[in-house]
Amino acid sequence: MMNKTHWNDLPQGVREAAREHVGNVTAAQTISAGWNSAVTLAADTEAGRLFIKGIRLDSTGQVAMLRREIAINPHVAHLSPELRFHVETDSWLIAGFDFIEGRRADYSPCSPDIPRVLEAIDVLTATPCPDITLKYADQLYSSQGDIDLMRRVSGDNLVHTDLTPANVLMTPNRVYLLDWARPTRGTSWLDAVSITHFLITCGHSPKDAEAISSQMRAWKNLGPGDLDAMVHNGSATRSTWGLKHFDGDPWTNSSLEAARRWWDYRRAHQEQINHSAKTRS
Ligand SMILES: Nc1ncnc2c1ncn2[C@@H]1O[C@H](COP(=O)(O)OP(=O)(O)O)[C@@H](O)[C@H]1O
Ligand SMILES: [Mg+2]
Repeated sequence: MMNKTHWNDLPQGVREAAREHVGNVTAAQTISAGWNSAVTLAADTEAGRLFIKGIRLDSTGQVAMLRREIAINPHVAHLSPELRFHVETDSWLIAGFDFIEGRRADYSPCSPDIPRVLEAIDVLTATPCPDITLKYADQLYSSQGDIDLMRRVSGDNLVHTDLTPANVLMTPNRVYLLDWARPTRGTSWLDAVSITHFLITCGHSPKDAEAISSQMRAWKNLGPGDLDAMVHNGSATRSTWGLKHFDGDPWTNSSLEAARRWWDYRRAHQEQINHSAKTRS
């Protein structure tokens, strides 16, 4: 967990700039969740309760992510908390979103959240890709030099690319997709495939996870070999960064193990298909 900066520790200029948008902040409480932002807090303001995220401008990678989150927000307001203000001053970029009184999604077997999350992904699949600067899905995979995979993941759909349970908040009436730090232009099934991986991470068998995911619209757009290529890639790359960077983190370790389990399942499935083809001929 990263060290967080509290509201009162921000430069006065930053707090004053925020006040111009939302009035006085009567209470602010740091939230320890999340990996990327130095500031994550709940703030009671004259404009209502807000979730405020902030990054120091010298953290260039994270600043780029928060800028993307700000730029995409009006295009995904039907799926995400609305952005109320953003300011950039005194070495900080700060953004305030509606605070959602919700809870983290549960992706474990039999969770009633799952059909609602899948429905939200269907809504995302039907959302036009805005004409703003986005990442390209093939760039995400380019460092591995797998041209075949780069071709498969390319496309013109808007995808979120990071729909872990921590980035989905549930309320009785709505499902909110948070943390649009890596919105991407790519093929429609990218989120559907990564959600399947997270379902396995959260305890589903690969077979059950695929059956659940097949209900999503985008799943039907998977072409021959796409799923095997993605699952194979997931098991290979996850083993590498899992061991290098996140050793000891329980989510990453489960996610790594799930990626391997999924690939074992698909390989066995492929062998079965090949075997029955041979015995038929
Ligand atoms: N609008 C919001 N309302 C309430 N809680 C939020 C909101 N946005 C994020 N959170 C909580 O804060 C956590 C971190 O926020 P997130 O946007 O995912 O930042 P990070 O990039 O650090 O992961 C989320 O997992 C969620 O629990
Ligand atoms: Mg997050």
